[in-house]
Amino acid sequence: MSIIQKATEVAAKLMPDKQVDPLIDGPGEAGSAVGQAVSRLDGPIKVAGEARFAAEVAIEGLTYAALVCSTIPRGRVVSIDADEARSAPGVILVMTHENAPEMASPPQMFTDPHGATTSDLPIMQNAEIHWNGEPVALVLGETQEQADYGASLIGVEYEQNDADLDFEAMFSGAEAPDAILGEPASVSMGHAEDALGEAAHVVDEVYTTPRLYHAAIEPHAATIVWNGAGDLLVHDSLQTIADAKSAYAKVFGLKEKNVRVLSPFVGGGFGSKYVWSHQLLAIAAAKLAERPVRIVLSREEVFRVTGGRTLTKQRVALGAKADGTLASLIHTGTTAMTRYNEFPEQFTFSTRHMYAAAALFIAQEVVRLDMVANTSMRAPGEAVGTFALESALDELAIAMAVDPIELRRRMEPERDPTKDTPFSSRNLLQAYEDGATRFGWKGRDSSSESRRDGEWLIGQGVASAYYPYYRMPGCAARIELTVDGRAVVQSSVHEMGMGTATVQAQHAADRLGLPIDLVTFQYGDSDLPAGTIAGGSSQSATVIGAVMAAHEALLKKLLKLVGSGSALKGAKHDEVMSRNGGLCRIDAPDQCESYVSLLEGAGEKSIAAEASGSMPLEIMKYSMHSYGAQFCEARVNSITGEVRISRWLGSFDTGRILNPKTAASQFRGAIVMGLGLALTEEALFDKRTGRFMNPSLAEYHVPVHLDVPEIDVIWTDIPDPLSPMGVHGIGEIGVTGVGAAVANAVHDACGVRIRNLPITLDKVLAGLSAQT
Ligand code: MOS
Repeated sequence: MSIIQKATEVAAKLMPDKQVDPLIDGPGEAGSAVGQAVSRLDGPIKVAGEARFAAEVAIEGLTYAALVCSTIPRGRVVSIDADEARSAPGVILVMTHENAPEMASPPQMFTDPHGATTSDLPIMQNAEIHWNGEPVALVLGETQEQADYGASLIGVEYEQNDADLDFEAMFSGAEAPDAILGEPASVSMGHAEDALGEAAHVVDEVYTTPRLYHAAIEPHAATIVWNGAGDLLVHDSLQTIADAKSAYAKVFGLKEKNVRVLSPFVGGGFGSKYVWSHQLLAIAAAKLAERPVRIVLSREEVFRVTGGRTLTKQRVALGAKADGTLASLIHTGTTAMTRYNEFPEQFTFSTRHMYAAAALFIAQEVVRLDMVANTSMRAPGEAVGTFALESALDELAIAMAVDPIELRRRMEPERDPTKDTPFSSRNLLQAYEDGATRFGWKGRDSSSESRRDGEWLIGQGVASAYYPYYRMPGCAARIELTVDGRAVVQSSVHEMGMGTATVQAQHAADRLGLPIDLVTFQYGDSDLPAGTIAGGSSQSATVIGAVMAAHEALLKKLLKLVGSGSALKGAKHDEVMSRNGGLCRIDAPDQCESYVSLLEGAGEKSIAAEASGSMPLEIMKYSMHSYGAQFCEARVNSITGEVRISRWLGSFDTGRILNPKTAASQFRGAIVMGLGLALTEEALFDKRTGRFMNPSLAEYHVPVHLDVPEIDVIWTDIPDPLSPMGVHGIGEIGVTGVGAAVANAVHDACGVRIRNLPITLDKVLAGLSAQT
């Protein structure tokens, strides 16, 4: 019996009333493409330097844009002196709020289902300043250097108003957001504070995490071409093509069919590659100048013009009964956003679904600061929320003298703790067991000898990883079969380096019963059927759902081609399956006809079908999440306080793995990002001026090779019976739990507990000296 059939049986048991359609239908038999370590199909072209990114497209008559950004955090522009810039060599245009074309406010992505921008502020439509870094002028030049020089000549006079820049100073005015990605800002069960007061063991601590930036290797960039008649072409770097097209149409009053957005290659997104002001300003400038425009943000401008992950201050209070089960679980805290965006950073989301507790209280608040609108960054919420929760669990394990894995076993819930729905698939404890064996988890009782190497102190830490399963509605896909036996599958989705093109070709090949080299997956173009966002780790499951729907539509069309002598005569679409380059009867698998024969018989050159995936009803009825166990070995220098990570293992439970090669890379990349969060990354915000003080990769420290050990990753590969093909998204979960696993290992090594990220040597040293 195949694992898929087993999963289908589980699904049937879980849904006797059939309100949710089972989405598993049985491709992926032995020898098929899914599950194979297929190398990235976009690899060779990237390695050869032939992939053209948004700022590399060759365009005749191109001009180059440079921005002038506000140097005050709040107020208004009184005057702009641009005379010198206008007469500088090669300067074509200076655009400010005084001459910018009318642009409608862009729809906001976290509140409008088709929004593509993080805030809905009007772009360069008036003199108001909302943050230090807001663009106040754009200079177009014949070369980038001429544009940059022109921008340097512009003088701006401001009238400055008092700005709200100090996170903690705003706490007295903190408020609960209306909702957090559609979920309530607070959840309460029982009397958590009372239960905490009566608990046998209590941990009640405050944890903080700083502002962070995505630091994609490719900075935000776009190349804009207006074609006379009002057609707009944007070569962009995006993870939301379909919504960007609709945003560009809305802002510039165009019909959607007159806008095309191309984004075939993206040099990293991580939640940052949306529509920001730079694209809108470049489109506006191209319109005014009647010339194509290229805009590339400098690394400093990435920090100033686009937003990153906001900061958090969190309280986690755990009250355990003597038997180690939780009497009380409290997770509260505050983040910062702006008056013109709604992204509260859902740091309590993992706490809502991870552990059983007799009483629970969860509440998030926000303060509004004058800063660039914050946005999603790889595992928004969970990346920093798991730092607090999983650190606190470690502190509780130590207080109770219980192994931290055993403690989590005692807290394992039978149903979702806050939704009270069944889990579709949850194998967290297996991920811990598999991981502990593979890593050689020693627990808390290892001998002091193996824990010291000269001046280095060695420790181990674990923490749970968690990320929700999402599937988005409204994603379409089109499949075309041609008489040469090939298939093209299309959807305007994204390849930011995750392996999208590869795994979708693998799935489509199996779905169609074709070898993978006869299948092409096309994406990255808004003229293709409207796809979905590459966000929330939802793209793979969402596209698979759409391809399944398109395949079903294709079967119906193919059966209309069946001739009188065919083995398929009279068969309905649910009585056939794709196999060996054609269709076969399910009840008589040797009765088949190839696609080529069907097409030739009907005198057709090709046949195509397009459809949208089913509504993601599975999410509403079941608790659907991914899990993992992060294992860290850290070495702490007892003299300098330096922390070095010497070993890492991520053990994941994320549904079915489509491609072990691209999956391992996704997990590893995210763990590396987690190591940055744990040890080195912090965007320093000057609360006097509202300006970032380290907006460069020289001073904003992402991990480099020497910071990263060999990272081992394993997975349960247990398909979720309720998701398409049994898959979960895997792009983000790897970041989660990393901060806590490091903090827990550091404590295990040297006895210093760091509750404020990043864990830099000054904090460790302070802790070490406090011990003596
Ligand atoms: Mo992810 S931050 O939702 O791209």
